[in-house]
Amino acid sequence: MNQTATPAASAPLWLLAELTYRCPLHCPFCYNPVDAARHGPELDTETWLRVISEARALGAVQIGFSGGEPLVRDDLETLVGHARGLGYYTNLITSGVGLNEARIAALKEAGLDHIQLSFQDSTRELNDFLSSTRTFELKRKVAGLIKGHGYPMVLNCVLHRYNLPHVAQIIDMALDLGAEYLELANTQYYGWALLNRDQLLPTAEQLREAEETVNRYRKLIGTRCRILFVVPDYFEQRPKACMNGWGSVFLGVAPDGTALPCHAARSLPGLDLPNVGEMSLEKVWYESAGFNAFRGEAWMREPCRTCDEREVDHGGCRCQAYLLTGDARAADPVCAKSPHHGEVERAVKFARRVTSVEERPLVFRSMAARTDG
Ligand code: FES
Repeated sequence: MNQTATPAASAPLWLLAELTYRCPLHCPFCYNPVDAARHGPELDTETWLRVISEARALGAVQIGFSGGEPLVRDDLETLVGHARGLGYYTNLITSGVGLNEARIAALKEAGLDHIQLSFQDSTRELNDFLSSTRTFELKRKVAGLIKGHGYPMVLNCVLHRYNLPHVAQIIDMALDLGAEYLELANTQYYGWALLNRDQLLPTAEQLREAEETVNRYRKLIGTRCRILFVVPDYFEQRPKACMNGWGSVFLGVAPDGTALPCHAARSLPGLDLPNVGEMSLEKVWYESAGFNAFRGEAWMREPCRTCDEREVDHGGCRCQAYLLTGDARAADPVCAKSPHHGEVERAVKFARRVTSVEERPLVFRSMAARTDG
């Protein structure tokens, strides 16, 4: 993909350090690449320390440690301590597996500010089925540890057709665990989730009911727990401003050092993504072809090019545009103005016909390389 005319870029605000693709869980909605096993070796500690320093020097103020499961890296405490020392707000995004008393104490000592713990559901059966692990009880214990160490309780649950009917119970569980924040994020269809889209897409009725439930709880509980409900964009008429605009605030680094303007950028063929092992982060951010590919508006085609909402949504999601139309420069087909909007409607309609996991089994995340994703 050729570099387009590039507007002056502002500095990145947050760095997502995807430390590893290794994960003890096997969620079928994971956004990690389905061919994760084919990517190169993980960056070593020294390189991560450099990347974290360079991103801070560029202006990043927030860092997320994620994966895969970041706790599988035994240098996590070192990296957190380094980031905190540089003045970042530090956030750990975890399944909870591997977080015991000793590690949370060490992370606290290192200066970790914030922990986001994921659940797959409010029931042991579905949580353990979806993650293909017996982790429900462990997650409840980890929630206690997080609370016990004085962290705000931040829970995350990815929603789809199987757990949307449990939204009230998920909120009750969050309240029971003393959560201050609950993020109910409807599945976005990249990576493994795209592979399982027909099985995971909910119905419009399920979504409406879940949203009503969330609003009812919000009125009841006030500020005791803030609930964020992220609507899946397949049911919208306008696209989301993905990543707040390409190369505008988000800088991701994959386990092998590939720098990412968005979580799913690896799915875009022909995009020349830089590697932090080969160039400074400053060059990555301001000069690389990958980060400049969709900055500004010069890359846009109709209807985005003349749309009066283009400064709001930036044409939507480039990865979704490619995955659904085969053209990364097309308007995100979630937009009703896109000539491909019918693809999204068809996907939703088709998914309704898949009524059980027996009929169409879920494909669970694994590190075995897939070539058909
Ligand atoms: Fe890549 Fe939206 S996930 S631009």
